Amino acid sequence: MDKNKKVYIAGHRGMVGSALMRKLRTEGFDNIITRTSRELDLRNQQAVEEFFQKEKPDYVFLAAAKVGGILANNTYRAEFIYDNLMIEANVIHSAYNNGTEKLMFLGSSCIYPKMAPQPLKEDYLLTGLLEPTNEPYAIAKISGIKMCDAYRAQYGSNFISVMPTNLYGPNDNYDLKKSHVLPALIRKFHEAKVKNAPHVMMWGTGSPKREFLHVDDLAAACYYLMENYNEEGLVNIGTGEDIAIIDLARMVKEVVGYKGEIQHDLTKPDGTPRKLMDVGKLRDLGWTAGISLEEGIRSVYENVDKVSWGTNLNCDASVAKEEMFQSANDFLTRLGFTVESKDENRPWGGFFVLPESDAKDFIRYFFPDVDMKDFEGYSKLSPKLLLVAPEKRLSWQYHHRRSEIWRVVGGTAGIVVSDTDEQTSPRDLSLGEIVELEKGQRHRLFGTSGWGLVAEIWKHTDATEPSDEEDIVRVQDDFGR
Ligand SMILES: NC(=O)c1ccc[n+]([C@@H]2O[C@H](COP(=O)([O-])OP(=O)(O)OC[C@H]3O[C@@H](n4cnc5c(N)ncnc54)[C@H](OP(=O)(O)O)[C@@H]3O)[C@@H](O)[C@H]2O)c1
Repeated sequence: MDKNKKVYIAGHRGMVGSALMRKLRTEGFDNIITRTSRELDLRNQQAVEEFFQKEKPDYVFLAAAKVGGILANNTYRAEFIYDNLMIEANVIHSAYNNGTEKLMFLGSSCIYPKMAPQPLKEDYLLTGLLEPTNEPYAIAKISGIKMCDAYRAQYGSNFISVMPTNLYGPNDNYDLKKSHVLPALIRKFHEAKVKNAPHVMMWGTGSPKREFLHVDDLAAACYYLMENYNEEGLVNIGTGEDIAIIDLARMVKEVVGYKGEIQHDLTKPDGTPRKLMDVGKLRDLGWTAGISLEEGIRSVYENVDKVSWGTNLNCDASVAKEEMFQSANDFLTRLGFTVESKDENRPWGGFFVLPESDAKDFIRYFFPDVDMKDFEGYSKLSPKLLLVAPEKRLSWQYHHRRSEIWRVVGGTAGIVVSDTDEQTSPRDLSLGEIVELEKGQRHRLFGTSGWGLVAEIWKHTDATEPSDEEDIVRVQDDFGR
């Protein structure tokens, strides 16, 4: 690949697309073009064609797709086949129309027949019936491979297809209703550790074996194949090794540092006994995976934001106040916290107050890196969850005998801080960001484009006279207090 040429990554915000972005940037590509699905709906033929006519990308990575777990695949069968067929047909055809030099299409291991022998070789494609639950998705993905091959055969287009195994890594999905086994285990063990739960329950025996590839390894393999593979057919991308789910659970438990037990819910079924890709073709082409499973899990666990994965809250500006408060309430109770009181009627939004007996768990969960010693011996730490409405703001204020520690746990919010009464420029806070507002430091929280959820705890600065609700100076108050 020529580093000066233009690359289009379709699906750049997804787990795979974002890993491809990181890889290409590291390799020195700086002419990468992207569009979110809102900016360019790849199901829209005319919009896709106009985009390709305007941008004329030299290389295309097609990592945009409608994806989901078994439940979503089975429930939204029509959407899974329609969206994926349209995305592939439009992008592949427009790439051909507009002279794209090379295109890579990303499929998935579910394209292989349900009863195909293990490990799965590329030759097993279309040798038997598919798994019925995700047949529409698999048919769409098989069509993508066949389109690339057909365009190669008829027009000589250099379009190639790759089939990754189960992936994990940055930007994974931790919503327990939708997530794959590995992120679900990471979250379950982490939450059990934080809550000191005696055991973690696993579905089934844990004997089925699965293969896992770090998405950065996938991106490295994709780059390697863009450089070195120019043929029809597909190439599996995996590690070539699998692991029993129970051993995976033990590995995650170890990495997370959870001391409790693993228990099995044997009323739940085990899935397919084994799903492993044959990576002989990839190995013969000269590439093998470099990130060991334990190393990969460790880096994911260290880097994932363990708070925002728990929110899964819709904080869009369009969400009504009652709905936002209800979902924040559900969020707190799902984490095992009690809501002692709440105020939904502040001009800027409102807040939930948790009992002091929850303060330690609250700190451990939302502010895992603080020193617990700083909070010991005080009867009031005032654990709260603030909800700041879009475009609203709190008063410009400070405290004499405490600092406050805040963390954005959902949506978006901004802050102004200053050491004098003079307000400085506002700054947007990112999801998961922690800020400590020192005693005396003027500050104000404000809402930006949507709702913002901010966890707050007090850190007293005067042990002889701990702070209280009266310890607030409103330098400027929009609400006449
Ligand atoms: N994750 C895995 O374990 C795994 C394993 C094997 C294969 N794969 C394959 O890798 C590919 C990417 O998967 P992923 O895990 O990265 O998925 P993902 O995180 O859900 O990302 C999918 C991306 O597709 C984009 N997209 C969806 N519908 C679109 C539309 N109508 N128009 C424009 N863009 C659209 C989304 O863009 P916006 O963010 O802008 O909405 C999103 O960023 C898929 O083909 C999948 O089958 C994934």
